[in-house]
Amino acid sequence: MSQHDAVEVITAKRDGHELTDSQIDWVIANYTDGVVADEQMSALAMAILLNGMNRREIARWTGAMIASGERMDFSSLSRPTSDKHSTGGVGDKITLPLAPLVAACGVAVPQLSGRGLGHTGGTLDKLEAIPGWRASLSNDEMLAQLEGIGAVICAAGTGLAPADKKLYALRDVTGTVEAIPLIASSIMSKKIAEGTGSLVLDVKVGTGAFMKDEARARELAETMVGLGKDAGVHTVALLTDMSTPLGFTAGNAIEVAESVEVLAGGGPADVVELTLALAREMLAGAGVTDVDPADKLADGSAMDAWKAMIRAQDGDPDAPMATARESHVVNAPSTGVLTRLDAMGVGLASWRLGAGRATLGDAVQDGAGVVWHARPGDEVTQGQPLFTLLTDEPERFDRALASLEGGYDIGDGARFDAQPLVIDRIA
Ligand code: URA
Repeated sequence: MSQHDAVEVITAKRDGHELTDSQIDWVIANYTDGVVADEQMSALAMAILLNGMNRREIARWTGAMIASGERMDFSSLSRPTSDKHSTGGVGDKITLPLAPLVAACGVAVPQLSGRGLGHTGGTLDKLEAIPGWRASLSNDEMLAQLEGIGAVICAAGTGLAPADKKLYALRDVTGTVEAIPLIASSIMSKKIAEGTGSLVLDVKVGTGAFMKDEARARELAETMVGLGKDAGVHTVALLTDMSTPLGFTAGNAIEVAESVEVLAGGGPADVVELTLALAREMLAGAGVTDVDPADKLADGSAMDAWKAMIRAQDGDPDAPMATARESHVVNAPSTGVLTRLDAMGVGLASWRLGAGRATLGDAVQDGAGVVWHARPGDEVTQGQPLFTLLTDEPERFDRALASLEGGYDIGDGARFDAQPLVIDRIA
């Protein structure tokens, strides 16, 4: 006999009441099993979006989603584990240099990643631009790679938090993605089920991010940090700027190439800064305080870990990657200082060029994307290349160009006020 029914749970939240632990456990378990219908869960998600959930409800909801599937266990490893999650940004390739870098410092990184949907790219899509590289690993392969090399970036199996997989797809089509309790529980259920010992969250703020304003990003970060702590996972969040895209590239192969520059000891200053900031947090969370990750970029050991990580998943780190068949250069229309480069415009352009997908299951182009040749604060001269657009399908240029229109300003350097990349740390 059922303990509850869906209408009772929906109307409780609709009328602004707290859900009990037993109502939450019941509704998640029965939604996973198909007893609670999609239309009922949609109504409940909307009631949660409108009326919120308190910390107890969110923690219980997260726990119920974890309990809907398997939990991984890395306690047999000889090294501590730490993972990073980014809420998603344009040109955000940080996972690529970060995972091998942290591994080179002695901490294992089990990075279960996803594919991109919309204007932010997916880590797996980027790595799949490397010839031969394979995203799917068995749990045994993952454990062996973590023990031997220390870093794994692979596809999350379907066994982790299946309730979230179903609910996220439903939220996507019912206008309920934006509810902070649902975002926080969605992200944290997967990270806690994954079994990492410590976690660093990169919560993005700005035009190219999920959270456009700082107050909401801060609330999301605080909620997730609280959930991590309640579950016994050492969790810290950095609030970081996503009004400007990271580095000089947004796409798949071109972001891998930029990440390799960082691993070789060079690369764009902002990508290096954020990689090191997150690496230091991951190491501290895992209790490693006597290694400076900057040394591991400089001495080549992070690069060695990268090559070993790629080879272990059948990729050839030295093979040439795909290049786009067509390119189109946008020149600077005037001389001055680039005072603004809008992350959303660049992200949309890259997506429209074929680097991203419109629906899950679409193919992405390895070579497509956008390269920008200046960053805010740089001087530009009229006629110099400002953007290079890359795609295999030239009919995509017009729509990509439209998304860059109005997406940058060239003006007087006196009006340029550099924003910090790391805005705050929430622990
Ligand atoms: N990423 C997730 O995994 N879940 C959300 O709800 C939003 C972003």
